[in-house]
Amino acid sequence: MDQRFDFVRRQTSRIVLGRDVTARLPELLRELGARSPVLVHDEVLTPVAERLAAAIGARLCIALPGGEQVKSLAQVGALASRLRASGADRGTTLVAFGGGTIVDLVGFVASVWLRGVPFVALPTTTLALCDAALGGKNGVDHDGRKNELGTIRQPELIAGDVAWLRSLPDDVFAEGFVEAAKMAAVLDAERFAALERLAPRLRARDDDATLVAIGHAAAMKMAVVVADETEQDRRRWLNFGHTIGHALESLAAGALRHGPCVAIGMLAECRAAADHVPTAVHDRLRTLLQALGAPVEFPRAYADAAQLWQLAQHDKKARDGVVPMIVPTAIGTGAVVPLDAARLAKALA
Ligand SMILES: NC(=O)c1ccc[n+]([C@@H]2O[C@H](COP(=O)([O-])OP(=O)(O)OC[C@H]3O[C@@H](n4cnc5c(N)ncnc54)[C@H](O)[C@@H]3O)[C@@H](O)[C@H]2O)c1
Ligand SMILES: [Zn+2]
Repeated sequence: MDQRFDFVRRQTSRIVLGRDVTARLPELLRELGARSPVLVHDEVLTPVAERLAAAIGARLCIALPGGEQVKSLAQVGALASRLRASGADRGTTLVAFGGGTIVDLVGFVASVWLRGVPFVALPTTTLALCDAALGGKNGVDHDGRKNELGTIRQPELIAGDVAWLRSLPDDVFAEGFVEAAKMAAVLDAERFAALERLAPRLRARDDDATLVAIGHAAAMKMAVVVADETEQDRRRWLNFGHTIGHALESLAAGALRHGPCVAIGMLAECRAAADHVPTAVHDRLRTLLQALGAPVEFPRAYADAAQLWQLAQHDKKARDGVVPMIVPTAIGTGAVVPLDAARLAKALA
């Protein structure tokens, strides 16, 4: 036999953001048909999570320490065991309440436990709301490599309440908007201008401004994710700042968070591609990032072109000695420019 079978999988993800979302969650989950869900949350959110678990009639409420170390295969196994012991089954909805690490872990479990159960993400960091919880990528780290094991599986619902963000430290709060600036810089000039207008209020952590900015980020990311289904590689556009940014993050080995590395990485990539990126674009982006509270100077301690180039090649799988990166050629539009050792050195000069 030699025959092809075509599958057409229709999927819908709903995103609900606002100020009163906590109160609406029982109803939002009921609309999905979720009965006695399991809530897995970051332990820093315990008091809120316990109230939430009661409100949604959770059969089980599991607290885990948020942070990269929770994204492990051991945690996947431990969660599977607790789900089975609680009597959960194929119809049980898994609800993740935490930052990107908890959402990545629980999303992965939801996609593999019993070959997949319904999944709801309740992101509690700006980074998770603007980026990590959107688009269906999940996963855990393995053998020291980030996101080595994972799947793509869209959550049925992503819901966020701006009140959850109040307990975030300022530097963590700023991180999501760095990703928003990243997307707007190469995808959307109007949203870039909107972020410029919103920046002072974001810095002051104004709720309305926060919701508007997260809404912009979510719209941009979801447009890319949906387009990527037909136009392969569209997701690569989300990598602006992440070629040099990831190399810097690796070299700093935990001393720098992801958001700052991406901010510094975007500006370095603009300089590396100075023949494609007008100085005015670099400067406007720099001003926005600064207004958002992100660092903009390349830390001298890690300005080692040879080491960064090694890491960038390894991370992004260089072909023929170059790593393709997306840079803005004007605000709101971009092009692929090959990064090589000489360009990287220029970015640090
Ligand atoms: N799946 C994707 O498409 C995607 C995209 C980008 C990033 N990511 C992943 O996201 C992760 C980073 O996300 P993150 O920055 O949200 O990480 P995180 O989950 O580690 O949260 C950051 C810190 O904030 C704490 N925290 C979370 N919510 C809080 C709250 N409301 N108040 C106070 N503290 C709170 C956490 O305990 C942690 O210490 C990485 O693992 C990354 O790989 C995934
Ligand atoms: Zn990122």
